[in-house]
Amino acid sequence: KMSHYRNTAWFFFKGIREYTRGDYLKAFKLEIKSIAFISSSANNSKISRTGANSGTGKVIALEIAKRGGAVHMVCRDQKSTEEIQAEIVKETGNEKVFVHILDLSEARKIWDFSERFRKDHETLNVLINNAGCMINQRGCTAEGMEMNFATNTLSTYILTTSLIPLLEKSEDPRVITVSSGGMLLYLQSEKGHFDGTMVYAQTQCQQVVMTEQWSQTHKTIHFSVMHTGWVDTPGVRSAMSNFYSSVQDKLRTPEQGADTVVWLAVSGAAVKQPSGLFFQDRKTVSTHLPLAWTRSSSEEQTFMKKLEKLANSFKPQ
Ligand SMILES: NC(=O)c1ccc[n+]([C@@H]2O[C@H](COP(=O)([O-])OP(=O)(O)OC[C@H]3O[C@@H](n4cnc5c(N)ncnc54)[C@H](OP(=O)(O)O)[C@@H]3O)[C@@H](O)[C@H]2O)c1
Repeated sequence: KMSHYRNTAWFFFKGIREYTRGDYLKAFKLEIKSIAFISSSANNSKISRTGANSGTGKVIALEIAKRGGAVHMVCRDQKSTEEIQAEIVKETGNEKVFVHILDLSEARKIWDFSERFRKDHETLNVLINNAGCMINQRGCTAEGMEMNFATNTLSTYILTTSLIPLLEKSEDPRVITVSSGGMLLYLQSEKGHFDGTMVYAQTQCQQVVMTEQWSQTHKTIHFSVMHTGWVDTPGVRSAMSNFYSSVQDKLRTPEQGADTVVWLAVSGAAVKQPSGLFFQDRKTVSTHLPLAWTRSSSEEQTFMKKLEKLANSFKPQ
């Protein structure tokens, strides 16, 4: 019964009221005077972005490149990513847009990639964990990991922890993880039955936990996790076709979805907020639905220990 309450409350009170286009415009209007700060800090900075070849990610890469940052797009499809790279260079005149081909569901390859990246670069200013998937059928990677977990949780964990040494060498380092308001739905996955939406929500919740925990253990880095709102992207069209047809005309554009990510990545105002918080439309919001207390701090620490052990089991010796 609790879960019925949770789903309905989330859809009507949060979803329709806050995650759609109308609400974005309202929030944007309130913040419009802050726009100037965006131009400030990405100059000459190196920014590593995952999932940059479609949806919100493409806009984030473009917006960061416009502000002079070096953008490292970490994506799995060479052809489409190189097309985007050429488009961004042409539109912005910024030549510092780089492509790294990596399938983020493959844990060992992420460790290898990070090691190479650490050898080739002295610092990293901002890491944006944007890539994500909602896979509705249970399926495992060749390494035996459930697909949603491998892409959304384990990759975020490995990429972030392995790049922390580089981030710590730069001034004003930031890690932004693109999660989802759907994480409010997660209580506990049911054994036996596989519900892709709930497994996705679980991975989004794990991103929140990781962010909160990292903010405690790495005080010099500014961590944030955020919800883009409901955005019209290839991912939503394919993974949630029924949802897509019911709210299609209300969805945000990728530009609107990317706004808070870019703000968190480059603005001075974002880092005035404490590290470890969840953002929506440039504002911090609660990570719990009213009456639904979903996590405890000892569970979170146990989760982080398990994740560390699992991630290390894929680390090259
Ligand atoms: N759109 C929404 O309403 C919404 C709401 C809440 C949260 N989000 C989050 O926003 C983020 C961006 O999603 P989107 O809506 O822009 O969807 P999208 O169009 O499907 O973009 C997802 C990106 O992640 C990449 N990706 C997925 N699996 C990957 C893998 N194994 N290795 C490398 N890259 C991989 C995709 O690359 P390919 O092109 O190669 O597939 C694509 O670039 C995700 O984290 C999603 O959970 C979206």
